Amino acid sequence: MSRIDFEPLGRRVACGDEATVFEAARDSGVPLASFCGGKGTCGKCKIRIISGEASPLSEREKGKLSSEEIEQGYRLACLTKAGADIKVEIPQESLVVSPQLQLAGKEKGVRIDPVVKAYEVAPSPPTLEGARSDEKALRDYLADEHGLIDLDIDISVQRQLPGILRESGWQSQIGVRGREIVMIANPGVSALGLAVDLGTTKIATYLADLATGRVLAARGMINSQIAYGEDVISRIYSAMENGEEPVRQAAIRDLDRMIDELCSEAGCSRENIVEAAVAGNTAMHHLFLGLPVKQLALAPYVPAVSGAIDVKARDLGISIAPGAYIYLLPNIAGFVGADHVAMLLATGIFATDKTVLGMDIGTNTEITLACGGELRSCSCASGPAFEGAHIKDGMRAAAGAIERIEIKDSSIKYKTINNEPPVGLCGSGVLDAIAELRKAEIIDERGRLREGGKEYILVPAEESGSVKDITLTEKDISEVLLAKAAIYAGMNILLSEAGIDWDAIDEVIIAGAFGNYMDLANALEIGLLPEIALERFSQVGNAAGMGARLCLISREQRALASETANRVKYYELANHPNYGRLFAQAIGFPAH
Ligand code: FES
Repeated sequence: MSRIDFEPLGRRVACGDEATVFEAARDSGVPLASFCGGKGTCGKCKIRIISGEASPLSEREKGKLSSEEIEQGYRLACLTKAGADIKVEIPQESLVVSPQLQLAGKEKGVRIDPVVKAYEVAPSPPTLEGARSDEKALRDYLADEHGLIDLDIDISVQRQLPGILRESGWQSQIGVRGREIVMIANPGVSALGLAVDLGTTKIATYLADLATGRVLAARGMINSQIAYGEDVISRIYSAMENGEEPVRQAAIRDLDRMIDELCSEAGCSRENIVEAAVAGNTAMHHLFLGLPVKQLALAPYVPAVSGAIDVKARDLGISIAPGAYIYLLPNIAGFVGADHVAMLLATGIFATDKTVLGMDIGTNTEITLACGGELRSCSCASGPAFEGAHIKDGMRAAAGAIERIEIKDSSIKYKTINNEPPVGLCGSGVLDAIAELRKAEIIDERGRLREGGKEYILVPAEESGSVKDITLTEKDISEVLLAKAAIYAGMNILLSEAGIDWDAIDEVIIAGAFGNYMDLANALEIGLLPEIALERFSQVGNAAGMGARLCLISREQRALASETANRVKYYELANHPNYGRLFAQAIGFPAH
């Protein structure tokens, strides 16, 4: 067993003899970047050995690191073992910090009608003449005063009941969920709810007052499961290889940390949280519940469970009110999950009588077309290019990431997140770079650099925070072309199945973090979005988080979520007869 000091974090962690530096970081929650989950293929987990001796440099590292990097002591954490105590530096581009998270979403008003209802209770205390049990006293009171009979009482409530009734002078409140008492508390304590958007990359959480629907605090963080694979497929494979539980626990720990932060901001206790609603894609949903995920990776890619689920929080190891339930929104298909259902709810697409296309662009881009009262959806394997992955100088949307680029009078202007020195490109920066280079005719229609060479320098080393050129390569351009071709083909298939063309589209709603930050005109320039009037597009932010919040505070929205998931007609693109042709047609940029 050796020790690793991670700088600049000042974290010291233990490392087993056979563990890599990456595994030691992952197991201790050190935020080290990775797109491949520690397989030695993405090259994103760079560290620099400051002192101490690590395992010798491997051939694979030599292939991923430049000679200057090797000279300066850079290594790949997932291919390096600490033979003895070592001190390493995590350079800024390898550090997953200050992520720019999309917490806000377009607000939609609904009638507040949460699944847990609070009732004041004042049962009479027992006397020698009338020595009823506390439970009986409560039941009698509920029947007489509220007409509630034959309720189940969660065991945690049974345990707390005698103490709270006496402590509160026989004036308490209970929370009833359906036919079950799930909470008992002193009077005046607000019953709170937690809404969670459980994303592959990010987790967004919202703490809300169930009586008013008001959001008291919101938090977001990078999903620590990233250490087990950047995208859904690699995470599923990691769960298949190493078991689902370590992957599941990573998200549970994140949630636990966020609940602490939310409660300290709102000045409340975990015990006040009596209900939670979670929206995630199908793989995240399954991993969260400990359901098997293997069948999601194998044709015909079906979920183990598609209906909405209610499960006791304590059964998942989540510590909120002991009797609280967690509700998970329903899934549509293996790759169109509950987060998409949440988005359809939040945007109103599920009920529109217009012709609307809604999409959430990510590693998988889920698209739904509402047309003539019918809902059709598909999922496009668009890859992680728009999240900055598989891009040579790509990175997540964190401090120092270039998020905007403009070419004016032959000079490149850029803007970074938090105005830090540039260290890489996040998704919107990649999109802008390609669109601007395309407008300047530096990239041709097929995605090649006209001036020759395999890469274009966007920021020279002297200006960059990583002291290396920040470039866009032809391979980066082709990653984006593949992503946009997949999305474009998916949209076209839904349109052709509905028998309409682009002119019929009244509105295109784009949800999610990348969709919110991307420059629409540039998305049109590269052909990611159809050539229709800009006014017909709307960017709505974190609609999945909004949908989870709606389901937290409204029983009607839960019913609509189930109805919507059942109504959607899902198209599997992998075996659609037109997919290959449409995909091939969409590779390349629109002509000028
Ligand atoms: Fe180490 Fe990808 S190369 S995590």
